[in-house]
Amino acid sequence: MAATAINGNATPHAVLVTGSSSGFGFGTVFTLAERGFRVYAGCRSAKGRAAVSQEITKRGIKEDRIEVMELDVTNEESVARCAAHVGEMELAGVYAVVSNAGLGETRLLEMTSMETYSHVYETNTLGSVRVFQHFLPLLRKFAELHASGPAPRIVAVSSIGGLVAAAEASAYAASKFALEAVCDSLRRELILFSSPVRVCVVEPAFASTPILEGMKTEETWDAALAGTRENLREDVKKAYRGMFDWQKKKQIVKFHGELGSWTCGTQLNHNHKSRTSNRTRPHPHLAAMDPQYVVDAIVAQVAARNPNHRKIVAPLLDYLLLSVARFVSTRIGDWLLYKIIKWRASVQH
Ligand SMILES: NC(=O)c1ccc[n+]([C@@H]2O[C@H](COP(=O)([O-])OP(=O)(O)OC[C@H]3O[C@@H](n4cnc5c(N)ncnc54)[C@H](OP(=O)(O)O)[C@@H]3O)[C@@H](O)[C@H]2O)c1
Repeated sequence: MAATAINGNATPHAVLVTGSSSGFGFGTVFTLAERGFRVYAGCRSAKGRAAVSQEITKRGIKEDRIEVMELDVTNEESVARCAAHVGEMELAGVYAVVSNAGLGETRLLEMTSMETYSHVYETNTLGSVRVFQHFLPLLRKFAELHASGPAPRIVAVSSIGGLVAAAEASAYAASKFALEAVCDSLRRELILFSSPVRVCVVEPAFASTPILEGMKTEETWDAALAGTRENLREDVKKAYRGMFDWQKKKQIVKFHGELGSWTCGTQLNHNHKSRTSNRTRPHPHLAAMDPQYVVDAIVAQVAARNPNHRKIVAPLLDYLLLSVARFVSTRIGDWLLYKIIKWRASVQH
């Protein structure tokens, strides 16, 4: 369905996508453009902008379909500049904002510096808040000028880590829990003041994008831990021994991958009938989904007449673990997750 088909309007609706240089953002930009939207692709780095521009040329996409823009969500000026430019270009307002830019961080709490906590929060949570503050006027303008059209919307990319905080993910989970809270609060404010702007949160499980690079091989794992191992106090090293053992780490994620790939194939293919299960396991160790599943979910929320408030995109195994951890008591949830992790580790040795 093209964007124009949503309201029969001849002018394509404008969508901003943040974090467009790779992964979900990159895929979302091109899928939305193919579906007839006019896309503003926000990228932080010159390298990222070059990658998107190159792909536009490669695919022979018309110049007026995608505009690549500099956008660092941690920088107020950069976000303001981007919103001002889009506002000048889109006199009929902006139809959707996909707030996708984000960082991954997997480290034990005692190994995570305060700077890292701040940086992850600044990007994953406050980065979205900044974008919402600058783009809500443009979304409202769209609503005013398209009174009988589709509701303008924010689609925020959170994570299942924003629903359940796993071990070794305190900085990331805290930032995504906070993003969930921001979106819940904003959605209720908009309802309270009868605004037509909708808020939708997409919550993916692991998907094979550059964010997982650090867990791919022993070399990338070492690089991700560079500086951490050397700077640790002896008591912390002792308390978490085995933490730096790649073989152990690899066994656990590999096992998860083997179980997950099976459930991934059955569950996801149910919703994506034309796809085959070999699309579900491009990551060597993790049960990582093909990022296109997540891209499709994001695009579906952009295009739907009535977007969901939340959309979990996950293989069956992750759904089950998530349900256990969320809906049983904390004591039982912790005990079960502990047993599962121990069992996974033991069957590998
Ligand atoms: N892949 C997964 O397993 C997974 C699961 C759940 C949720 N998510 C979430 O999905 C979103 C997209 O991640 P991804 O998996 O597609 O990873 P990715 O390929 O690493 O994409 C992250 C994007 O965010 C951008 N970014 C980082 N900091 C930024 C900043 N300050 N300003 C603007 N852009 C910035 C990156 O730009 P640069 O190229 O400049 O770094 C990159 O384009 C993130 O919010 C992530 O938390 C991912």
